[in-house]
Amino acid sequence: MKIIVFEIEDWERETFQSMQAEHQIEFVAGPLTHKNAEAYSDAEALSPFIYSDLSADVLRHIGRLKLIATRSTGFDHIDLEYCGANNITVCNVPVYGDNTVAEHVFALLLAISHKMIAAVDRTRRGDFSLKGLQGFDLFGKTLGVIGTGSIGKCVIEIAKGFRMEILASDLYPDEEMASRLGFRYVDMDELLASSDIITLHVPSNKKTRNLISDEEFARMKQGVVLINTARGDVLDIKALAKAIGEGKVAAAGLDVLPEEGGIREEAELLRSVYDKKHDLETMLLNHILLRLRNVVITPHSAFNTREAVERILSTTVGNIVSFTGGEPENVISAKRT
Ligand code: NAI
Repeated sequence: MKIIVFEIEDWERETFQSMQAEHQIEFVAGPLTHKNAEAYSDAEALSPFIYSDLSADVLRHIGRLKLIATRSTGFDHIDLEYCGANNITVCNVPVYGDNTVAEHVFALLLAISHKMIAAVDRTRRGDFSLKGLQGFDLFGKTLGVIGTGSIGKCVIEIAKGFRMEILASDLYPDEEMASRLGFRYVDMDELLASSDIITLHVPSNKKTRNLISDEEFARMKQGVVLINTARGDVLDIKALAKAIGEGKVAAAGLDVLPEEGGIREEAELLRSVYDKKHDLETMLLNHILLRLRNVVITPHSAFNTREAVERILSTTVGNIVSFTGGEPENVISAKRT
């Protein structure tokens, strides 16, 4: 099988070596795009990360495609309907870094609660004054966890160590887990109204798009802290900017942004002015948020520890091997979204 592995770093190639004898594998440092799709028109399998364009328009160029083995948990970047209609199997990596992403949630939260970035900036300048650096304790605060799957659960376990109160919401509450870990499922109204900190752990799909918007911000406590490591479009960025402006949201920690692909490179931003591929208003809001002192933004790096990436690679190789062996694993279908 001809397999093209996109968005791959040199050190990551090693894991695919075991398949070299049986398959023709090509490594590409960048993503699959509209512009380069023609060059891979004879590929039978693709292994992208999340910045490749896997829309029907691009996939149409790859007529022999049988498998997409994405090296991510999220699969919102793949046109599942097109894949379903064209007999293309899609596999993901369902679990690889629930602890990794949960640890990043607390990296963002502690950066905010201890004003870590401003504090370090200041000491680097030789300034040891404390003015404006007062933070807040996590101890005793109420954490609202929206989505209690693999990552949400891990966040709750860590939050328990900080002795936080936990409220949770999920389409499918796991009451056994709630009593084992010691937290309460409540409806969204109560979670929004009672939480000091809210963290999002739902997948991006039609139902979760703008899950947190003006109406939800209106129901939150004044001065709430918001953490988003899920996907950028789960949070209405315009509503967030407004809520920050009004002081409703005291601080935000964001690992994901809508249109984040477009802001990875300034050049990409400039190009998008001409090709109108990106929503420029959203990108402008992203740039405004990037410069606010009470907003901490990381570049979708919550997953990015050595251990987590090694788990991603070995599961992906396993997905390809099981597909070629006729028993595909970790298959995603359009019905699941
Ligand atoms: P999961 O599938 O284990 O859990 C998601 C949970 O959300 C499920 O319990 C589901 O019932 C719940 N849910 C779905 N729709 C909901 C709604 N409308 N309201 C309330 N609950 C809802 O997924 P996991 O592994 O916890 O990951 C969550 C998301 O985190 C992924 O879909 C992905 O987008 C994102 N992620 C981000 C990473 C990063 O580097 N920033 C890395 C890995 C995942």
